Amino acid sequence: MIRVGVAGAAGRMGVAACAAIEAAQDLELAGRADPALGLDLASILGACDVLVDFTTPDSALGNARESIAAGVHVVIGTTGFDVGALEGLTGANVFVAPNFAIGAVLMMEFAARAARHMAAAEIIELHHDRKLDAPSGTAARTAALMAAASGRPAPPIHSVRLPGLVAHQEVILGDIGQTLTIRHDSLARESFMPGMLLAVRRVGALERSPVVGLEHLLFEG
Ligand SMILES: NC(=O)c1ccc[n+]([C@@H]2O[C@H](COP(=O)([O-])OP(=O)(O)OC[C@H]3O[C@@H](n4cnc5c(N)ncnc54)[C@H](O)[C@@H]3O)[C@@H](O)[C@H]2O)c1
Repeated sequence: MIRVGVAGAAGRMGVAACAAIEAAQDLELAGRADPALGLDLASILGACDVLVDFTTPDSALGNARESIAAGVHVVIGTTGFDVGALEGLTGANVFVAPNFAIGAVLMMEFAARAARHMAAAEIIELHHDRKLDAPSGTAARTAALMAAASGRPAPPIHSVRLPGLVAHQEVILGDIGQTLTIRHDSLARESFMPGMLLAVRRVGALERSPVVGLEHLLFEG
């Protein structure tokens, strides 16, 4: 059994994560941390092997540092913070994914591949109106992957925030007389759970840390 704690347990993603962990036969929900529940991280870390963080851009880094200092591996789903600041932390492993949905990982891979062959691209990301960061972590990562693949500057990103949306992204590529649109829709938060559970099961055995991107768990080794 892997003992898993959830930071941000009262939030939209945290509630879904707790339910998914409780439903998994090989995982035990060892603790919930969230100021909204009056439960702080320090009080649960002693009971955890892995911490899952779905909090806020200004909390994720501090939570990761605290968790690693306690020897607890961290799976971070929170977006909008400086992932580079995780470099050099030792004592436990860190895995970060801006998007845990398999379809979104494939969208990013296809977009990077297409960027090599078409003249220009723009990204439109659409999310629910209570999302704190813009552009989304997924859009920023898609743009970085497309820039690396094509050798051109990162494509512009347009952010839409509306009630009713969950998490959606379109990558539109243009060339002479044609466009190509690659679109992914997360219609429910359950779309993120299989990827999150995979990361929880694999984070303790990573050969390097931090690892950023679910593609490293899905398509490597
Ligand atoms: N990686 C992915 O696949 C993925 C998918 C969806 C959302 N997200 C990201 O997950 C994060 C959470 O999204 P949400 O919609 O659940 O937000 P939310 O606002 O519903 O929940 C955030 C929760 O974190 C709690 N919190 C704040 N500071 C904390 C701290 N220091 N310790 C513990 N808990 C703390 C808040 O009280 C709140 O309950 C966002 O950054 C979002 O972009 C990632």
